[in-house]
Amino acid sequence: MTDDPRPMLHARGVSKFFPGAVALDDVELKLYPGEVHALLGENGAGKSTLIKCLTGVYRRDGGVITLDGADIAPHSTLDSQKLGIGTVYQEVNLLPNLTVAENLFLGRQPTRLGLLARRRMVTEAREVLADYGLDIDPAEPLTSYSVAVQQVVAIARAVEMSGKVLILDEPTASLDRDEVQLLFSVIRTLKARGLAVVFITHFLDQVFDISDRATILRNGRVVGTRLLDGVSQTDIVTLMLGRQLEARVHDRAPRTLGDLLIEVDGLAKSGMLDPASLRIHKGEVVGLAGLLGSGRTETANLIFGAVPADQGRILREGHEIRVTNPREAVAQGFALCPEDRKTDGIVGDLSVRDNIVLALQARQGWWRPIPRAKVTEIAEHYVKALDIRLASLDMPIRLLSGGNQQKALLARWLATAPDFLILDEPTRGIDVGAHAEIIALIESLREQGMALLVASSELEELVAYSTRVIVLRDRRQVSELTGDAISTSNIIHAIADEPIQEAS
Ligand SMILES: Nc1ncnc2c1ncn2[C@@H]1O[C@H](COP(=O)(O)OP(=O)(O)OP(=O)(O)O)[C@@H](O)[C@H]1O
Ligand SMILES: [Mg+2]
Repeated sequence: MTDDPRPMLHARGVSKFFPGAVALDDVELKLYPGEVHALLGENGAGKSTLIKCLTGVYRRDGGVITLDGADIAPHSTLDSQKLGIGTVYQEVNLLPNLTVAENLFLGRQPTRLGLLARRRMVTEAREVLADYGLDIDPAEPLTSYSVAVQQVVAIARAVEMSGKVLILDEPTASLDRDEVQLLFSVIRTLKARGLAVVFITHFLDQVFDISDRATILRNGRVVGTRLLDGVSQTDIVTLMLGRQLEARVHDRAPRTLGDLLIEVDGLAKSGMLDPASLRIHKGEVVGLAGLLGSGRTETANLIFGAVPADQGRILREGHEIRVTNPREAVAQGFALCPEDRKTDGIVGDLSVRDNIVLALQARQGWWRPIPRAKVTEIAEHYVKALDIRLASLDMPIRLLSGGNQQKALLARWLATAPDFLILDEPTRGIDVGAHAEIIALIESLREQGMALLVASSELEELVAYSTRVIVLRDRRQVSELTGDAISTSNIIHAIADEPIQEAS
């Protein structure tokens, strides 16, 4: 692999400037056939920008890119696909209402779509997908399958069209353990076929699991390329951050709870969530654990009124309150920072500043605009507190890196000064350095007396900050852990429906 002197793809001296930001500065990347190459770096380091320069989404401001020895300058994704570079992003960018087969061959269909052509397309799709280990019906709409399967369809499409380089930008962010394994087995097959695969993720375990080498970016510059055999996660993290990450504190200091604030009593919606009950005190963090689809997000959304419940009630300080929509929830001092920033969160064309004060402004009423100076003060405060990397508060939020958008969304809800904060996957897409900061933030909000409900698939983190953990399976609460019983192994046992080990 790496002893092959000639890379398949070689980017040299690549630079990209934006107003107020140098996103890439003299970047070099070499990809060899048959390797999985991780591209790592903090939020805003330039990973996605580099990919966009390779795939013709952005025009680079300098540098040379060669593919199989020939200079390339793709000016669109289609162009780069034709050259042999395919990309799959975290959000599956296929057309949900078309069938699997149609998605697979989109843009390449025979022009006369007769019945015969359709049948042939389905047969061919079945054959192609079999190579990827998928035994599904290509005549079904894409949405009838899980996100993981859709992701593999997107990969199959990219590879069938391109065939040399496959780029995956945070493809596993919304997959559970088994689904990640499905994706990895596909990646291993492609590697064996001689493709070069670029893998971007913030999950370092996955990096070590599947990748051969890694290139690490910091502030738009390459700070190192390493063979992963023989380096430690600590080495990689230190390169990424330019400093050592302090060991995480896992002491579970005894916590004194304040008064009972929120009581959820048998809240349910048929087909979505079985009756859920929980109690959260001031100064308490209740963790929600469970696999993808177990009902964590559903629980959060029902409590916040984002989805109206069809039975059950919510009490605040002992009095039943009405929460049938998010507006009523916010009026009660609730806040929910959602899992998926794209669909439930950011308003892309609005400035970072206005995105941060959006929920606060909505609560105050649009007819009472927050004075401009105050808006700036609030936005600046959170940009500093959460270390949001940006060129200017005035830039449209869609121009921030993915992880920084996520932080801005958290800022929006903190700005409402809630006394009950629901966080759904607060560290998704956030780099390892900022993980520690978000955990510290949860801890300090709790100490200030806030009641928190946090859904997360990061079990170690849940264990670190929760005073109580509720485990969900198949849209039902199956277990509740408190005190010393809160451990990753107990949570895993509860998720897997195995007897819980006695705390040792
Ligand atoms: N179109 C643009 N205009 C202005 N600035 C931009 C634009 N696109 C990206 N940037 C800036 O370039 C920098 C690199 O962003 P990029 O999206 O490449 O980061 P990333 O490494 O992918 O981060 P993450 O892990 O958060 O996804 C960021 O500071 C970002 O704000
Ligand atoms: Mg990115």
